[in-house]
Amino acid sequence: MSARDSQWRHRPEELAAFLPEGFSVGAATAAFQIEGAVREGGRGASVWDEFTAQPGRILDGSDASVATDHYHRYREDVRLLRELGVDTYRFSISWPRVQPGGRGGTNREGVAFYDRLLDELLAAGIRPMATLYHWDTPAELTGGWLNRDTAYRFAEYVYLCAEAFGDRIDSWVTINEPATVTLNGYALGVHAPGATLLFDALPSAHHQLLGHGLAVQALRDVGVAGRIGITNVHSPVEPASDNEQDAAFAALFDTVHNRIFADPVLLGHYPEPPEPFVDLFAALAEIEPDDLRTISAPLDFYGLNYYFPSRVAAGSGGVNSPDGESAAMSALPFHLVGWPEFATTGFGWPVAPDYLGVALRELGERYGDALPPVIITEGGASYPDAAAADGSITDRARIEYLGDHLVAALEATAPGGVASGVDLRGYTVWSLLDNFEWAAGYSQRFGLVHLDLRTQTRTPKMSYRWLQSVLSAR
Ligand code: BGC
Repeated sequence: MSARDSQWRHRPEELAAFLPEGFSVGAATAAFQIEGAVREGGRGASVWDEFTAQPGRILDGSDASVATDHYHRYREDVRLLRELGVDTYRFSISWPRVQPGGRGGTNREGVAFYDRLLDELLAAGIRPMATLYHWDTPAELTGGWLNRDTAYRFAEYVYLCAEAFGDRIDSWVTINEPATVTLNGYALGVHAPGATLLFDALPSAHHQLLGHGLAVQALRDVGVAGRIGITNVHSPVEPASDNEQDAAFAALFDTVHNRIFADPVLLGHYPEPPEPFVDLFAALAEIEPDDLRTISAPLDFYGLNYYFPSRVAAGSGGVNSPDGESAAMSALPFHLVGWPEFATTGFGWPVAPDYLGVALRELGERYGDALPPVIITEGGASYPDAAAADGSITDRARIEYLGDHLVAALEATAPGGVASGVDLRGYTVWSLLDNFEWAAGYSQRFGLVHLDLRTQTRTPKMSYRWLQSVLSAR
């Protein structure tokens, strides 16, 4: 960087001048985290409704039955997006709202809700990016993603969405973070459905990826107008020391967290597991060979979610996964260690913008020409965000987080950058507003807009005003 102080990244005019022509900036949410109205409009139950009802699963004992009440307040939320000046809005379509039970035809009221939302967005000049699956599997689908049939059920639901909304959606994300679903939901039990299968959870990865591939086929068959991609969360992995054991477990973690979800989609095969651990991956060696052809169907973009890097050490010891406490984690022969050199977010996650550059560099190195244009589909941070006496929320840390990450991504992918081969098209802030943060309930606030949990009143934070200034200065 030049002699300029690093603060320029947080100054709207200077940051705006740094954004490439046509670079798209958006804000993101997900259905279960914001909609509420879980028993309204003919919506069926999802595994998350069941999970939140179980005692002890959610840190603050809360559930998402009201959440931000977006189902009733979507007009206000679209107005917030329009005034913010974003190019795109990434939201998710709730499978159990559109197809309760995960089988059969559509629920008319569910479709009507997304019709209204899409029309409102288009009238506001905002390009809709729809995620088809952000973790709310219909509760009736026995076995969830451990069951191969769920992939076919998912494709049928996607077909229904393509027919209903295919004329208005700009970008489709098939599945959001299959890694989180497998690791947190089926391996460690900190997310729905709460299974603690450790490596026996791997079939849930394969079936989600198959569901992704079948979904791409369904969208192409219907001939939707928008671009099609998947969203994977990537966490660059480092060993805690240069001893061999730490290096082996770091390679193992990289394989289960990053590679088994990206390689089959982009390269058409699963990665070779690190030597000492081949047996753990037997489930992926025994799949039906045609599946990989389906899973690797060409994509129009690759969605990258980045929050933090991971540092791995040999030996059990960690009872905490980054997303919550997991007793199952302590049964693993490795654990995650902290990054004392970095500041942390409210969640305790390290603030490490340079590792977003590393994630992009790894994508470029690993996938080369097989990597389509990349959109950062999520990035953001939770902070306590206490309101001052006048109600204002001065979330400077979030402004710094967003400015630093945006610039890190753009510098990495610029000519001469560490990931200069990667064609980066956009950045999407997680999240538009504070919402139901899964196992953490409402204890972690990620929003540009503050949510009053009692009244659902929305108050733009300082970071909202800041992003608004960046976007209007372009
Ligand atoms: C998920 C979001 C979540 C965010 C922060 C991502 O893994 O896609 O739903 O709220 O991280 O934890």
